[in-house]
Amino acid sequence: MNTVNRRFSVAPMMDWTTPECRYFLRLISKRALLYTEMVTTGAILYGDSARFLRHDQSEHPLALQLGGSNPADLATCTKMAAAAGFDEVNLNVGCPSDRVQNNMIGACLMAHPQLVADCVRQMQDGVDIPVTVKHRIGINGRDSYAQLCDFVGTVRDAGCTSFTVHARIAILEGLSPKENRDIPPLRYDIAAQLKTDFPDLEIILNGGIKTLEQCTEHLQTFDGVMLGREAYHNPWLLRNVDHQLFGDAQREISRTEVLQQLRPYLLQYMEQGGKATHVTRHILGLAQGFPGARRFRQLLSADIYKTDDPIQIFDQAVIGLEGR
Ligand SMILES: Cc1cc2nc3c(=O)[nH]c(=O)nc-3n(C[C@H](O)[C@H](O)[C@H](O)COP(=O)(O)O)c2cc1C
Repeated sequence: MNTVNRRFSVAPMMDWTTPECRYFLRLISKRALLYTEMVTTGAILYGDSARFLRHDQSEHPLALQLGGSNPADLATCTKMAAAAGFDEVNLNVGCPSDRVQNNMIGACLMAHPQLVADCVRQMQDGVDIPVTVKHRIGINGRDSYAQLCDFVGTVRDAGCTSFTVHARIAILEGLSPKENRDIPPLRYDIAAQLKTDFPDLEIILNGGIKTLEQCTEHLQTFDGVMLGREAYHNPWLLRNVDHQLFGDAQREISRTEVLQQLRPYLLQYMEQGGKATHVTRHILGLAQGFPGARRFRQLLSADIYKTDDPIQIFDQAVIGLEGR
């Protein structure tokens, strides 16, 4: 079985953790585990599978997140992911969207531990990459600690050893997916209790973590931390991950150097017919906290959409960050 170090990961985020975004983040941290956006089994089995499995070699370590609840379909997609070179497949049991609930995908599966266990068992069968689960601490109507333990214990019995816990419940009616990431209170204590009660399992904490100091603190209790929004909006946070959280030697790299390394990728991307903004929209947060940040954002979020020479705008944005 391949091993994956999950001490620090960037969360799966629809429309955000695209291949272009992951390529960029990988320039900043070599060690962070990166997750794809959630891809449904239907998209892979009946859609353009090559598109949904597309990634660059540099993105490793890289996990594919799947959405689905048909064990046979999930097993097929997991085999395809392994063949495509992914290091891990993660099952989404945390997404509260109505659209996915209708198809029995995401957080609603927390009410069906046995089905999730069947999915995990079949997914794991015949592949030597790990299958992991990302879930909530409950859903409305099924939010007791005993029910959470029943879920984790049942899925553990099917062979899953790594659980990423978004430490709030999901409310399946009445809240939008966005509200479901903010309104239900964070309960790190419940996630910590899980680690106490299932000491042999790898428990990764997710939800509301914003700094590497907080990561270090949580790593006293948990096996890993997963950051979503903060990693996206403030990607420069990742620059100290390899050194501070993985113990690697400090790698000196500036924002300008990151952008210089991104430039050939951007050029190639455009040569292959891609839109420059599909790359640059993910880098807006890089200048966060700098006097030139507004100008950087203005160039890359407005001017670049109006030009027929995006590289020139990109270069202008890089010059504005010179020396940072
Ligand atoms: C734009 C966006 C899209 C998301 N898409 C997914 C997804 O596809 N799969 C998933 O498991 N979670 C998804 N999430 C939830 C995140 O993975 C994470 O659990 C959540 O944002 C809490 O972590 P954070 O507080 O560090 O952002 C998404 C979050 C955001 C902001």
